[in-house]
Amino acid sequence: MISYSRASVLVLAMVLGAFVGPLAAQDPSQLTLDYYAKNCPHAQEIIRAEVECAVRTNPRNAALLLRLHFHDCFVQGCDGSVLLDDTATLIGEKQADQNVNSLKGFDLVDKIKQKLEAECPGVVSCADLLAIGARDGTVLLGGPYWDVPVGRLDSKTASLDLANSDIPAPSQGLITLIAKFWSKGLSATDMVALVGSHTIGVARCFNIKDRIYGDFELTAKFNPSSELYLSKLKETCPAHGGDDNTSPMDYVSPYVFDNAYFEGLVQGEGVLYSDQQMYSSLVGYQTADLVKQYWADPLLFFKHFSDSMVKMGNITNPEGGEVRKNCRFVNS
Ligand code: HEM
Ligand SMILES: *[C@@H]1O[C@H](CO)[C@@H](O)[C@H](O)[C@H]1NC(C)=O
Repeated sequence: MISYSRASVLVLAMVLGAFVGPLAAQDPSQLTLDYYAKNCPHAQEIIRAEVECAVRTNPRNAALLLRLHFHDCFVQGCDGSVLLDDTATLIGEKQADQNVNSLKGFDLVDKIKQKLEAECPGVVSCADLLAIGARDGTVLLGGPYWDVPVGRLDSKTASLDLANSDIPAPSQGLITLIAKFWSKGLSATDMVALVGSHTIGVARCFNIKDRIYGDFELTAKFNPSSELYLSKLKETCPAHGGDDNTSPMDYVSPYVFDNAYFEGLVQGEGVLYSDQQMYSSLVGYQTADLVKQYWADPLLFFKHFSDSMVKMGNITNPEGGEVRKNCRFVNS
């Protein structure tokens, strides 16, 4: 089916191309670097200035944007669906298991969007805003720079069901996690590199309790510094209550985008079960090897991370869409 329709599109494009020139062969769903060059030449600067201000005020804002972009791309493609509010006629994704009480940064997105609308109304999509904002936040915390291909459109729909089924959960094992990335066209290598995002930001006790009162206890027994770290985690996250307390996923440098997070995994100190799986799973020799490589070679991590971010950002919604005026609502 797929190859047949691809082939016929190609033939059609070639036939049209013969009559109207190469322009007709341009695929509107392809992202490009200069998409806004004519209609909003300062889009990148506007976003960058706002993200810079926000990250200076609170470095966690970089983590919020990065995670929003991820949760956006894993549901219907990178189409801003994660930003839609629930309304009488639309069920958004904000109540999904991995999003509710967890995703933040929506006000910051609104603020950036307002600046964009003031400069070039109706031009820059919310999905592109997230992709560029995720990159800018990464750079501001010391991570790699990459050029962000743009031209995404915002969806007119959202999917709570897909958000529940497709976004990976911290309780899941390595095979499930790899399968979830695979189904988005991302490899196990992409996954390990991308989860390196956990070098910044925090997790709620709700998501780390199973681990710190579970298998973390076993490994910490053999290592005094892990034992100390574990007792600190238990102070932050008591066995009962405190579910919304937070702890960094990279306690060495929670707001520096570096590779210290991977050392934590090598030490058995990942706070999320899913994170530790990449190093400790019995079937994870390939991912464990990557974890070690990224710990040994920060530039390799940066290279893979930026390549994989471009790949993840390249997941498009085949339905197309619009440029929303307000990221929370479809245009009326
Ligand atoms: C195996 C896949 C992944 C799982 C299971 C996972 C799970 C989680 C969980 C449970 C949290 C804490 C949320 C909370 O407690 O409220 C978190 C935070 C975070 N995740 Fe992931 N994640 C994964 C992959 C990724 C990817 C691919 C990215 C980005 C490309 C990412 C970026 C982040 C960031 C930046 C934070 C910190 C957010 C903050 O400070 O609020 N994660 N993740
Ligand atoms: C992005 O997706 C298009 C197909 O839509 C593909 O041709 C292109 O190679 C992809 N680019 C990257 C960097 O993955």
